[in-house]
Amino acid sequence: MIAPAPVITIDGPSGSGKGTVAGILAKRLGWNLLDSGALYRLLAFAATNHGVALDNEPLLEKLAAHLDVQFVGATDGKPARIVLEGDDVTHAIRSETVAAGASKVAALPAVREALLQRQRAFQEFPGLVADGRDMGTVVFPDSPLKVFLTASAEERARRRYLQLKAKGDDVSLSGLLDEIRARDERDTQRAIAPLKPAADAIQLDSTELSIDQVLEKIMSEIALRDIAG
Ligand code: DC
Repeated sequence: MIAPAPVITIDGPSGSGKGTVAGILAKRLGWNLLDSGALYRLLAFAATNHGVALDNEPLLEKLAAHLDVQFVGATDGKPARIVLEGDDVTHAIRSETVAAGASKVAALPAVREALLQRQRAFQEFPGLVADGRDMGTVVFPDSPLKVFLTASAEERARRRYLQLKAKGDDVSLSGLLDEIRARDERDTQRAIAPLKPAADAIQLDSTELSIDQVLEKIMSEIALRDIAG
């Protein structure tokens, strides 16, 4: 039997730097990239467009199972253009409003189940870097390298603040900190697939590390495990 394509999982709260790290890592390795948070964001976005309430589990389950989405150009770690029902929503799904909706639909068991196979379909050769909250615990439990990336809530709010300011958005640091704390609370306390490190995950705190330093640590774990050939 042929061994399945290897998966490196990177889980952690929003603002920990996992999305950036996962993208660079996938590119460096020439592997595929799964931004699983985008799927929850897409579902919240589509639900709002279709007038489906974010707590209507049966309808959200149907919508999740039939989500018409394409990740265009998503190879070798390149950030994909995301097309939902024919519309380019790459930027639209990155708003704080969509993030808050994503966190709500992500708490529904039927939604998570409906998105499971869709996520596992990304496991293709030569390998996959998967970024999310439950990549190591639920979606790819056999992954040979699981990273759990954290940072203090204050530092994560500060990073988000700088990002949004750079885009010209009018945001307040204390408002962002409150939103991050509320989202952390929902993501870690939910009954199904809560945000927590897998028992065999390596935990990295990026509060005082640069992206390059985080990458260096992950690359040395990859070398130790002889994962990427
Ligand atoms: O990583 P992100 O900010 O794009 O994720 C958006 C929301 O989706 C976040 O609040 C938690 C949820 N999520 C999840 O529950 N499981 C995942 N694997 C990825 C994201």
